[in-house]
Amino acid sequence: MPNIIVVGTQWGDEGKGKIIDLLTPSVDCVVRFQGGANAGHTVVIGEQKTVLHLVPSGILHEQCRCIIGNGVVLDPVTLIDEIEGLHQQGYLSDPLRLAVSDRAHVVMPYHRQIDSLREKRRGASRIGTTGRGIGPAYEDKVTRQGIRCIDLVDPNAFEERLDLLVPEKNKELELLGGTPINVDELMDLREKWANYLAPHITDTTMLVHDAMRDGKKILFEGAQGTALDIDHGTFPFVTSSNTCSGGALSGSGVGPTAIDDVVGIVKAYTTRVGQGPFPTELEDECGTHMQDKGKEFGATTGRRRRCGWFDAVLVRHAARVNGLTKLVLTKLDVLAGLKKLKVCVAYELDGKRIDYMPADAHALERVKCIYEECEGWKGDIADARSMDKLPKAAHRYIDMLADLIGVPVDIVSVGPDRSANIIIRSIF
Ligand code: IMP
Repeated sequence: MPNIIVVGTQWGDEGKGKIIDLLTPSVDCVVRFQGGANAGHTVVIGEQKTVLHLVPSGILHEQCRCIIGNGVVLDPVTLIDEIEGLHQQGYLSDPLRLAVSDRAHVVMPYHRQIDSLREKRRGASRIGTTGRGIGPAYEDKVTRQGIRCIDLVDPNAFEERLDLLVPEKNKELELLGGTPINVDELMDLREKWANYLAPHITDTTMLVHDAMRDGKKILFEGAQGTALDIDHGTFPFVTSSNTCSGGALSGSGVGPTAIDDVVGIVKAYTTRVGQGPFPTELEDECGTHMQDKGKEFGATTGRRRRCGWFDAVLVRHAARVNGLTKLVLTKLDVLAGLKKLKVCVAYELDGKRIDYMPADAHALERVKCIYEECEGWKGDIADARSMDKLPKAAHRYIDMLADLIGVPVDIVSVGPDRSANIIIRSIF
């Protein structure tokens, strides 16, 4: 029963989509467990690039059952577009291969509106959200006034919830300078969404447990990264869900005893989109090298990603809070051509050396990085498919990261294509 959780270990954009696609042939089922259409998981096969926001990254493999779990906040407009896009690319010939939890909360148009209006009002203190309504949708879940997928397929339940919600939302929208909403328009949307999505909506907790009972292998797919986790990230510059391995359990309805391994995806340097502290950020030609060579633009918003040296303090924090057992190192090829590489091994905070992430974002803004340097390498490594094809300096860099994090690297990704990997040890 090898079931694994795959999570991001930094601020997202570590290349989870590609690695989940790579691991999918070894599993029967991929379950996305948190976040929403703020995610952008990219899978590249030859000339074809597929960006997935809600649909699990295992969808390109016809044998794999894909599940959107209860922990996800689901935007029906994005999901319908995504399903249509997959059909156009020739995937998902059996649409029922994709199941959506009846317990998942729905991102409504007013959530997107509130997200954007709040960001505008925050001005310089904005979070830099993706504007996809994620925070407001999770907020309604926690305050118990959200609409769930199960309500979409029941017009009476949907209307009952709207009757309570709409006056309150309109007060908030008025305060924020937004456009009021009305029940009739939302009821029309419900009908359209339900007609399309009803066949997918089901009790996915039961699906997952039936699969486990039948000895099937399951991969739980995280979105964003540990430093964006609502509890363990750089609060308040975080997303609104538990991006860590703990979120996989609550977000899909399984217990910790069901999990065999927790795989952390780690980029060979650090990137971040949106606002918030970033101790190793570079504003020089090395940062520009990472940005250009790594094509560091957001897959969801197209925003330029901030780039910096590898931060081992951050990833060690991820190893702790996720219980990581294995690592996949991505985008190593991007570092080729940099003479020296720096790795942040500890921080100095107010004159004191610390080797953990402070909880206070202001403190994290103040830390100075303590770096260790190592040699870079010149030649392109994008064609390497075994460790003996990598230069010595790249070996030393990989070993240094694994030692600092305390978790072994099992796979090294050296390019965006599905096939561009060095498998050191099989994950399964
Ligand atoms: P939200 O999730 O849209 O509320 O945005 C909150 C923060 O998380 C912002 O800094 C976003 O840029 C960041 N964020 C959300 N989703 C992703 C992602 O998939 N990759 C990287 N950053 C993300």
